[in-house]
Amino acid sequence: VYPDAKTASIDVAQRIASLVRAKQREAEQVVLGLATGSTPMYVYEELVRLHREDGLSFRNVVSFNLDEYYPMQPDSQQSYVTFMKKHLFDHIDIQPDNVHIPDGTLPKEKIKEYCLAYENKIAAFGGIDIQLLGIGRTGHIGFNEPGAERYSKTRLVELNDVTRTDAASTFGGKEYTPTEAITMGIDTILAAKKIMLMAWGTGKAEIVKKTMESEITAEIPATFLKTCEQVEFVLDSEAASSLA
Ligand code: F6R
Repeated sequence: VYPDAKTASIDVAQRIASLVRAKQREAEQVVLGLATGSTPMYVYEELVRLHREDGLSFRNVVSFNLDEYYPMQPDSQQSYVTFMKKHLFDHIDIQPDNVHIPDGTLPKEKIKEYCLAYENKIAAFGGIDIQLLGIGRTGHIGFNEPGAERYSKTRLVELNDVTRTDAASTFGGKEYTPTEAITMGIDTILAAKKIMLMAWGTGKAEIVKKTMESEITAEIPATFLKTCEQVEFVLDSEAASSLA
């Protein structure tokens, strides 16, 4: 638990930077699992600062994003492609070929095959070294909504009503908010070597408490994280404020 989101995010970014630099010294690649939304924004801000002011290079970084709305055009204002470019990729030297974000433009019949290929690609790079996560008010991680299975993989899912309500302002109303998304599965996420779930602010206090204090249940997908030792919850004091 950190005093505030900024301090916590700087620490998370510094830990990512240490791994990137250590792997660089070994001439190895680093695989980062990335999230969008408001939660990781300060982490990305700090990574951009480290690139500009501290010479941190991302030439050896390979990234896989957790999710993307479906259907979604990459150049749309609301796409996670646009988000990642705006907050990170346009400001660092990551190689465009090393960036992977689920494709929201595919015809439905191609999605299954695409998702399997996404999984295989992660595996081909040796798995995810550090996975960043936020948490939704439903307890979702990625877009694994209540009911998601422990051994779920990358797939097309329906978005929960609460999640769509939370996203509605971005889309100019709930009626314009997508009902589906492509997301890494719970099993894809838990296979990462290190997982950092971040949560900031009083708005997350209740779901953080539920996740920490509930038994492991698909009704709160984030509880699956508690079955794995490589998982860390990175909270600010507000998000931790309901914990006993
Ligand atoms: C985003 C993602 C979601 C968000 C979650 C929290 O790629 O997978 O699980 O992390 O909805 O969103 P924010 O950070 O906007 O509160």
